[in-house]
Order: sequence, then structure tokens, then C-alpha cells
Amino acid sequence: MALVSLKELLDKASSGGYAVPAFNVNNLETVQAAFQAAQLEHSPVILQATEKAGEYAGFDLLSAMVHKAAESSPAPVALHLDHGGSVEAVLKAIRNGFTSVMIDGSHLDFNKNIELTRRVVEVAHPVGVSVEAELGRLGGIEDEVAGEVQLTDPEAAGRFVKETGVDALAVAIGTSHGAYKFKGEPRLRTDLVKRIKDLVNIPLVLHGASSVEKEIVDMAEGYGARLKGAKGIPLESIREAIKNGINKINIDTDLRLAFTASIRKVLTERPEEFDPRKILGPARELMVQTMRNKMQVFGSSGKA
Ligand code: G3H
Ligand code: 13P
Ligand code: ZN
Repeated sequence: MALVSLKELLDKASSGGYAVPAFNVNNLETVQAAFQAAQLEHSPVILQATEKAGEYAGFDLLSAMVHKAAESSPAPVALHLDHGGSVEAVLKAIRNGFTSVMIDGSHLDFNKNIELTRRVVEVAHPVGVSVEAELGRLGGIEDEVAGEVQLTDPEAAGRFVKETGVDALAVAIGTSHGAYKFKGEPRLRTDLVKRIKDLVNIPLVLHGASSVEKEIVDMAEGYGARLKGAKGIPLESIREAIKNGINKINIDTDLRLAFTASIRKVLTERPEEFDPRKILGPARELMVQTMRNKMQVFGSSGKA
């Protein structure tokens, strides 16, 4: 099956009340894991790459792998630019066959974010490429007083979507990127999701949504990793966010942790091993498990 647009996947998720996982990919093993998980779970899936992923692996190679794998995939797949920083980055992704782009103007002031996002919509929509934008600034609610975090304002979101014509909107409700999301108890404003959804009426996106599973952290630490204080989003909050209108959930950290935990285990238990396939194969398998769990929790399993 050829790659599909993000809009096609997310509009269905929005009417069906579930979320499609978006996995960050940087290498062959993660791309293969995502396709395998999608096939086993009969789930739609989004593979996404940041500009840094492009610097590491090349957008051309990543895209070629995804397009080729999609040909024999029974599940619908979109290839998405994650956190695009400029119109140039967006054009580069489109030229490389991405079917969707994110333009991240969340650090800009409201009007500048609208202006940049609108320019991206103008170049992407005519060639059938979907656009995700972000309004608000990610970070824990406890840091909100420091001023860097800005929860998404529902009324502003309504205006933003009307004036830009984006297909999906990423919102800030207390999640953050990485493995250290909360110093104290996890706290999210999932109630905001519903208020935003009612006003924008398009699919909403949750970034920084990894759960930082205790089992995986324990496994990595058991083989020497140092991850003290790592804390993620409780699955209950994820379920609540989906119920209130989230339809795309970005996962990178949980894949990085699974990959690392598995590699540490193999290298510790079998110090004589030096065949990369024997080291990376189990890491790929643990990522498949992680991805399948996400599909089950997000409700995308069985929707392909
Ligand atoms: O949100 C971004 C992802 O977690 C990964 O970012 O590829 O720029 O390190 P990166
Ligand atoms: P995590 O760091 O929680 O996996 O979030 C990833 C993300 O939002 C990528 O855009
Ligand atoms: Zn993100």
C-alpha cells in the first residue's frame, strides 16, 4: 500500500475516538519495528523523523526505507516531518517524499506562528501533504510559573486553526519531551484537550507522551544505565487525553529506552558477542513489543 497522508489517518481516528501512534525513527531497526508492530496489531502507524534524524541517517535513506516497506504493508502508514523548524526544512521533507509535515512555530509569538504556519500550509496542501502545527509551549505544569511553559489557550487555538488551515494541532497540557517529565507527581490538564477540541474541531496531537515504563527503566538500570529520577506520563492520563480528543501521540523516549535496555542486556550477558545483528536484533524486538503496547493502549489496534 502506498503511503497515505496524516490527514487521512487522523480524520478517521478523530471520528473513531482513538489515537494513532507516531514513532520517531532514526535507523533501519526502528523502521522495521514500526512496520512489524503495525502488521501484527492491524494498526495504522505514523513514522516520523526530525531534522536531526535527517542529519544522522539522511531523509533520502529514511524515506526510501519507509516507501519500500510500505509497498508490502497491509496497514496504512504516513511519513511525517517532526518539529520542522523552517519552510526550507518542510520543502526538503516534501521533496524526499514525506506525506506530512509539522511546522513548529511554538517558540514564536502568536501572530508570527500563524504567519509561518500559513506559509507552510500554502506550500504543502497543493501537493497533498498534511500539516501539523503547535500552539503553546511544552513543559511540566510545575514549571509554568517559570514562564517557559505555556499551556494551550482554547480560544487562541480556535483562532489559530481558523487562520492557518492546519490539519492537526499539537497542544501543551503539561507533557514534555524526554525521560524526566515530572519532579513530583505527574499532573496533566487533560480537561483542556476537550475545550480545545470543541473549538478547533480537528485532530489534536500529544507530544512528549512517553510513559517511561518502570519495567524498562529497571531493566536498563539493572545492566548499568543511570536513569535516576526518570518519570513519564501515566497510561491513565493518556487514556483520558484520548477520550477528550487526542488523535496522534508522539513516542520517542520509550523507544530509546527499550533499545538501550536491550543492548545493555545483550552486551552484559554475552560479552563475547560482536555481531551487530545479534546485538540490534533483540533491541528491534523489544521496540516491537513497546510499539504494540502503545497501539493497544491508544486504541489503534484493529483499526487498519
Ligand atoms: O521531539 C523530538 C524527539 O524526541 C527527538 O528529537 O531527533 O531532535 O533528538 P531529536
Ligand atoms: P517523548 O520524548 O515523550 O517520547 O516525546 C517525543 C515527541 O514528542 C517527539 O515529537
Ligand atoms: Zn515533540
